[in-house]
Amino acid sequence: MFHKKTIRDVPIDNKSVLVRVDYNVPLEEDGTIADDFRIRQSLETLKYLIKRKCKITICSHLGRPEGKPDKKYSLERVAERLQKLIGIEVIFVDEAVGDRAFITRKKQTTNEIIMLENLRFDAREEGNDAHFAKELVKNAEYFVQDGFGVVHRAHASTDAITHYLPGVAGFLLEKEVSTILGAMKSPKHPVISIVGGAKIKDKIDVIKNFMKISETVIVGGVMANTLMVAKGYGVGNSKYEDEEIPEANHLLEHAAENDCELFVPHEDVAVGDKFDETAKRREIDIEDVKSNDIIMDFGRKTMEEVCHNISNAHTVFWNGPLGVIEFKNFNWATTKLSECIAANNHLTSIVGGGDTTGFIDELGMRDKFTHVSTGGGASLELMAGYKLPGIEALLDS
Ligand code: 3PG
Repeated sequence: MFHKKTIRDVPIDNKSVLVRVDYNVPLEEDGTIADDFRIRQSLETLKYLIKRKCKITICSHLGRPEGKPDKKYSLERVAERLQKLIGIEVIFVDEAVGDRAFITRKKQTTNEIIMLENLRFDAREEGNDAHFAKELVKNAEYFVQDGFGVVHRAHASTDAITHYLPGVAGFLLEKEVSTILGAMKSPKHPVISIVGGAKIKDKIDVIKNFMKISETVIVGGVMANTLMVAKGYGVGNSKYEDEEIPEANHLLEHAAENDCELFVPHEDVAVGDKFDETAKRREIDIEDVKSNDIIMDFGRKTMEEVCHNISNAHTVFWNGPLGVIEFKNFNWATTKLSECIAANNHLTSIVGGGDTTGFIDELGMRDKFTHVSTGGGASLELMAGYKLPGIEALLDS
């Protein structure tokens, strides 16, 4: 399932290694780390490399600082958190390339990890720049890619870098790819896939890919409204993509060809009278949607059907919320869905997408799922069947 060399497959003992992680962690207003899941998920690889007496330098991005230094996105606090979690000294260098980084790396011993400053403080990172990549690899003998969340980007630290160092995968990358693709290749049926989101264009490939392997694909979010319009339901004042109705029709045909049910609410929905946090939730039957109503969530009867189907399934793939989860009156169906999946512990449940995994975490339910991906866009692209540049660039196994 995973066709690339990993750190197990190369003579890495005593080597200097540059490890690319995705420590793009959510931050509170005051800059503290809101959730260190991505850091914790990288520890297995780091501990293995420590055991193998490697000299480890870590690089990552944080946020989107647009090619300029921005204190708000410094990795210094992340380095402190990593030190606490891993229990050995983590030396933070306030630049990714340059004399200070070079000298610190040259003097490094095996009892310490070096963490470089945010790669995206330099525009050459996102520019996939060869010179920047060459600077990064100075003193290193292997490149280890373990930042699953960023492998859908062709950047200097995911792509160009592999021209200057042999690149292999870390354990997190290997686990993400084998778990997601393995479950998609030979899932235990019945399979239910759930895809939420606003734009059909962004999710069409993942929906189509899921249709190939699922008995049912449940569509949520604004995309559900667009599909409801295509099916002939009135959606009142709800957001939907008028220009995508032909694409929605095409998806409905595609579902029929694949013998897959494309499920959108057909009984009831939850509506509000404004697209706002303060909007009151009203649950109504679909045929009662009036011109001022804005659909923002699945209704109770609809969710009863969804949960019943889930209890009969064996595999669930989930990427994207059902309703407007940022409004507390309209996160009910997504909460209910998490609870239904969690309550059925016979299920294999694979969840990806930043919004969805963040929501599950807020509910404190991460450990109730078989696999919660660290990837947002990366997991979506993998589930859509794309080849990801940061994986393709690594050595073949
Ligand atoms: C993510 O959070 O999805 C990754 O870290 C990638 O971040 P990006 O979308 O800013 O490239």
